[in-house]
Amino acid sequence: MTAIILDGNALAQKLRADFRTRAEALAAQGTRPGLVVILVGEDAASQVYVRNKVAACEKAGFYSEKISYPPDVSPALVLAKIAELNADPKIHGILVQLPLPAHFDSDAILDAIAPEKDVDGFHAENIGALMQGKPRFIPCTPYGVMKFFEDAGIALKGKEAVVIGRSNIVGKPMAMLLLHAGATVTVCHSQTRDLLFHTQRADILVAAIGRPRFVTAAMVKPGAVVIDVGINRLQAGPDAGKLCGDVDFDAVKEVASAITPVPGGVGPMTITMLLGNTLEAAERAAKRGT
Ligand code: GUN
Repeated sequence: MTAIILDGNALAQKLRADFRTRAEALAAQGTRPGLVVILVGEDAASQVYVRNKVAACEKAGFYSEKISYPPDVSPALVLAKIAELNADPKIHGILVQLPLPAHFDSDAILDAIAPEKDVDGFHAENIGALMQGKPRFIPCTPYGVMKFFEDAGIALKGKEAVVIGRSNIVGKPMAMLLLHAGATVTVCHSQTRDLLFHTQRADILVAAIGRPRFVTAAMVKPGAVVIDVGINRLQAGPDAGKLCGDVDFDAVKEVASAITPVPGGVGPMTITMLLGNTLEAAERAAKRGT
C-alpha cells in the first residue's frame, strides 16, 4: 500500500481563503484582526517560527506585531507588556513564543494573558475548557491535525489513537481532542515501557517526539493514518542540514493509508490555525463591542 499524502499546504490555502473572506467581512464592520507575538531570547528555531507567524498575519490582512526581548529580560517587564496588550482593543490575540528562558515561570506568563486573547489556548482556563469538551481556543498544532482528519474524511469514532509525546503544546491537547472525537486514546512518552506494542495497534498514530525519523515502518500498523508533528534538522549523514519529521516518511508511506509529509504537512496548518484563532478572537470581540 502507498499512503495518501495529506498536503498541509493545499489544506492551509483552502482554509486561509475562507479566513480572508471572514476577515474582509469583519473589516467592513471596522475591525481588523490583530495579533502580537512576543519573543524572548535568541533561539534560532523560535525566531523562524515567529517570523513565519507574523508574515502569515500580514499576508492575511491582519495587523501583526513582533515584540522581542533579550534573553535576560526581567519577567516583570514582559508581564507589564502583556497587561498593556490585554487592555488594547486593537489587539485580539497575544502569543508568547515558547520555550521561555529558564528564569521565567512559563505558566505565570501564559496565565497573565487575557483568556479571550489567548489564541494559543495555553491559559489554564482555556485548557480547562478544552478538557471539559467546551473549547474556547484549540491549541494550533492539534487543531491543524484535526482539520486533516475532517478534510480527508478520516473517521475517529471507536478508533485506536496513539499519541507519542505528552507536551502541553501538542501531546496533551491532541489526546483530548481525539478523545472527544470518540477515539480510544493512548499517550506514550519517554518512560513508556513497550512503545512498539502501542504503536503497532494504532489506527491513528500521532508522532510529536522531536527525534528525527524515530517512527519506523515496523512500528506502524498496515493501513494506519500517520501524522508527523516533528520538525527536525538532520545533523549528520547524506541529508545533513535537511528538515525531516519524527517519522521515517519514505518507509512508512509504504505501510500507512495516509501520512503527512515534513515539510508541507502539519507545519503550515499550525500557522493557519493561529490565523483562525486570531480571527475568531476578533469576531468575538466585535460581537461583544470591545
Ligand atoms: N513553541 C512551539 N510551538 C509553539 C506554539 O504553538 N505556540 C507557542 N506559543 N510556542 C510554541
